[in-house]
Formats: sequence, C-alpha cells, structure tokens
Amino acid sequence: MQPTEIINKNKQYWEENADLWFGTTALPTYGVKFVSEDDLHFFKDISGKKALEICCGSGHSLKYLADRNAAELWGVDLSHKQLENAAAYLRENGYTAKLICSPMEADLDIPKNYFDYVYSIYGIGWTTDLQGTFNKIASYLKKDGIFIFSWHHTLNYCVAWSCSQRKEEVENSQLVFNKSYFDESYFTMPVDGSEIVLCNRKISTYINALAKAGFIIEEMVEQNDKQTMESVNDNSDKTKKAKMIPISVCFKVRKI
Ligand SMILES: C[S@@+](CC[C@H](N)C(=O)[O-])C[C@H]1O[C@@H](n2cnc3c(N)ncnc32)[C@H](O)[C@@H]1O
Repeated sequence: MQPTEIINKNKQYWEENADLWFGTTALPTYGVKFVSEDDLHFFKDISGKKALEICCGSGHSLKYLADRNAAELWGVDLSHKQLENAAAYLRENGYTAKLICSPMEADLDIPKNYFDYVYSIYGIGWTTDLQGTFNKIASYLKKDGIFIFSWHHTLNYCVAWSCSQRKEEVENSQLVFNKSYFDESYFTMPVDGSEIVLCNRKISTYINALAKAGFIIEEMVEQNDKQTMESVNDNSDKTKKAKMIPISVCFKVRKI
C-alpha cells in the first residue's frame, strides 16, 4: 500500500470515529496503564513557552498545557472532525490554539527554529515516513528544544496470550510471540467496524531516526504505572500482561 493510500484510509477512520476518542489519550496520560506526566514531569517549565502538538486530536493535551500557562499553542492533525472537536473544547475553556488540518508528513506552514516543545501523545506511530517526520519536528524546534512522544511499545504488538478453548488450559495460558519483533511491514487492523493501517517499528528504528534527525535522548521510559505493577486483586489479562512487558514507550529528546 502506498503512503497516500494509508494516510487516506486512516483519515477516513478518524473522521468517522473522532467522537469515540474524545479526550482518551491526552496529557497527563502517556498511555494506558503507563506512568503519566504527574510521575515524569517532562513539561515542568512549560509556563511562557511555545508548544506544538503533532496529532493533537481532541485538544485535551493543548488545554492541559494552556492550564499551565503555555504562551502559544499549535496543533496538527489530519482529521477535520478531530480539529472541530479540539477548537470547540478549547473555546469552551477560554483558550485558542493555531490548528492545522494536514498529515504530519506534509510540508507545513509552521515556523522553523520556533518552538520550545513539540510533543505527540499516541500520534507519531501513525506516520508513513518516520525519518521525514522527525526531521520536520527538529526543524520546528529551537536549538535545545524538547520533543516528547509516546506510542505503543513494540513488544505489546508482538506478544499475546495463548488462547485455548479448554478451561484448564485457559487458566495456564502464557504470553507468546505471535509476530516477529523485526517485522515492520504495514498491516490492516479492524477497529470499530472500520479499518486502520499501521506498522510496528522496532525500538532501534525510533532511536536511530531520532539520532539522524539531530536529537539526543534525555530519557526513554518503558515503565507501566505503579498501580498496575503493584495490583494484587486485578487478574485481568491486560493487567497480567502489563506486569510482564511494557505497554507503551515514551521518549524525551533534545534538539542539539
Ligand atoms: C490516538 S489519537 C491521539 C489523540 C490525541 N493525543 C488527543 O489528545 O486526542 C491519533 C490522532 O492522530 C491523527 N493522525 C493519524 N494519522 C495522522 C497523520 N498521518 N498525520 C497527522 N495526524 C494523524 C488522528 O486523526 C488522531 O487524531
């Protein structure tokens, strides 16, 4: 599948299903069952700073930074419906942001060497051009500007519970690799009666693309949240899995 075809298919999903995701993957959350901004404090000096969100969705993270006195807020997203929701949500809360409807992969009318922070919560993995997207993000940032992003951890897509119809075996089910860690090919996934197209990039793919774009890594986080890790009574498959492998990954990197 060509990149434009992938982007159009994903755009269609988000236009039709934006309302289902209203405020679900936004700061302070970096991911489900994952450490949050309240634990990490990656945006500790946001007051008076300029920030750009890539894949800003419903605008909840922009509001989070506006509440903390960010000076200027911009957002990019490919879905009109998401941006309509974001504009309305920010307006209701007395804030504005410059919102751009476009794929992140495109050449955008965004100032260069301008932002103190660029960030993306569960957005970057949608790109069909990781290196090009990281290069663009580096160009938007000032020197020493910070780029923060979270996404599914690669292992989370490779590992699943073995399933069996037999009750005694269900109780002893194990986590197994059902996909190669090295497989970065695109796959189509049915969601909400529609389809999305994604790929599962290796952690080294992110790290090498960041280095090539001119970033140094300040922190890479794989830690699931304390509540999940210490839970005693929650025996759900999701929690048991989260106790064994990272569900999300989050990077804080600096433009050099
Ligand atoms: C899981 S949501 C993230 C939402 C966001 N963190 C929030 O607070 O609502 C992913 C978002 O990425 C957007 N998206 C998907 N592919 C994109 C692309 N190629 N360029 C820009 N945005 C994209 C979708 O429209 C959607 O709003």
